[in-house]
Amino acid sequence: MKERVIVVTGGNRGIGQEICRQLARMDMIVVLTSRIEKDGLQAVSDLNKHELSVRYHPLDVTNPSQVLALSNFLSKEFGGCDGLVNNAGIFLDSQGGNFFNTDLATVRQTMETNVYAPYLLCQALVPLMKKNNYGRIVNISSGLGQLHNMGGGYPAYRMSKTAINAMTRVLAAELAGTNILVNSMCPGWVKTRMGGPGANRSVEEGADTAVWLATLPDGGPTGKIFSDRKETAW
Ligand SMILES: NC(=O)c1ccc[n+]([C@@H]2O[C@H](COP(=O)([O-])OP(=O)(O)OC[C@H]3O[C@@H](n4cnc5c(N)ncnc54)[C@H](OP(=O)(O)O)[C@@H]3O)[C@@H](O)[C@H]2O)c1
Repeated sequence: MKERVIVVTGGNRGIGQEICRQLARMDMIVVLTSRIEKDGLQAVSDLNKHELSVRYHPLDVTNPSQVLALSNFLSKEFGGCDGLVNNAGIFLDSQGGNFFNTDLATVRQTMETNVYAPYLLCQALVPLMKKNNYGRIVNISSGLGQLHNMGGGYPAYRMSKTAINAMTRVLAAELAGTNILVNSMCPGWVKTRMGGPGANRSVEEGADTAVWLATLPDGGPTGKIFSDRKETAW
């Protein structure tokens, strides 16, 4: 069987790096991307010390010319792309941000990275998936974006994660009937630079559902949101 090629954004640390590790262990061709080249190359070298063979490509997700360069690289090198994990994210209003003290510039910047960048990446890479009628897209969301128990605080981050969930639904609906499956997942509260040392989950636990969704069999779910491999409420 053809080896699957999958791109992970923000792969240089945290949950993204762990997703790369777990996918590479499953013998997928993982393209780890990062906005700071030296950090990404270091992460690749750390993973490859453990007999993995992860590839690297630079990608600041908010830079459209880098998105185009990545898509050209995938076409030239592999003749397509089989998966995308939209993991890169920012949480600028994490420190006591509320509706009134979070300015619009923060909301805009958060939307750029957490929503518009995955949108553009999907526009660029889905055509490569269509070539082989195979694709797995995983959007890393958050419990803070779930509408069913939406509360106050962190407005920029919350709205960005709700919006990426909407993107999951729209894209999945437009790709219905193809073998390109699009899902959101919530990793839980994970010990990373974003989650902080007080978080209750390891990166291994945080990455697990994303890896499962990235390797779904044909006919698997699409247009849904998962937590610990179980469908959850939007
Ligand atoms: N940790 C949690 O408790 C938790 C909970 C729910 C959801 N999440 C989500 O899980 C995902 C990963 O978070 P994490 O906890 O692993 O956070 P993290 O350790 O802060 O890592 C965030 C990653 O995103 C990258 N990134 C940010 N802006 C970027 C850009 N413009 N271009 C490319 N990469 C960019 C960072 O790169 P740099 O190193 O260059 O900054 C880093 O690799 C995020 O989408 C986050 O919202 C995390």
